[in-house]
Amino acid sequence: MIDVQEKFELSMHIRQEVDRWLKKYPPEQRQSALIPALHIVQDEQGWLSTPMMDAMAEYLKIPAINVYEVASFYGMFSLKPKGRHEINLCGSISCALRSSHELGDYIKEKLGVDYGETTSDNKFTLKEVECLGACCGGPAMLLDKKYYEHLTPEKVDDILDAIHE
Ligand code: FES
Repeated sequence: MIDVQEKFELSMHIRQEVDRWLKKYPPEQRQSALIPALHIVQDEQGWLSTPMMDAMAEYLKIPAINVYEVASFYGMFSLKPKGRHEINLCGSISCALRSSHELGDYIKEKLGVDYGETTSDNKFTLKEVECLGACCGGPAMLLDKKYYEHLTPEKVDDILDAIHE
């Protein structure tokens, strides 16, 4: 069966924001705006579908494969729908030495999901990511756009239990 997805139309807001980025680069370097452009789409839509990426490729006048490569390479982009809040727990070496893997097991158990999954109430998506650049504060996580460091199971409980929406 062929999975045909609807064509996606970029909103006026997305086009205006992307245009702002395009002004920062020479006209022949439109691809340089790709990462911020994908953030803009993801911030508005919550994730990146193939039609969304195709629409951005068309808008930036670059091959769609270039968009797919970038979107699938970086863990900050989600290629499937995610929960209202995204937990990115660092699994790299400095955090691992300070028990981030055990903390990850605790969060998985608490939420009833594995890495890459979303809770049944659509509230949280849990991801294990590479270094967040907060190595001195490990174990570290990025929850939506806020960093949390020196985490323990008790701190994670306080942080996650305080989110009600
Ligand atoms: Fe975890 Fe760098 S190793 S933030």
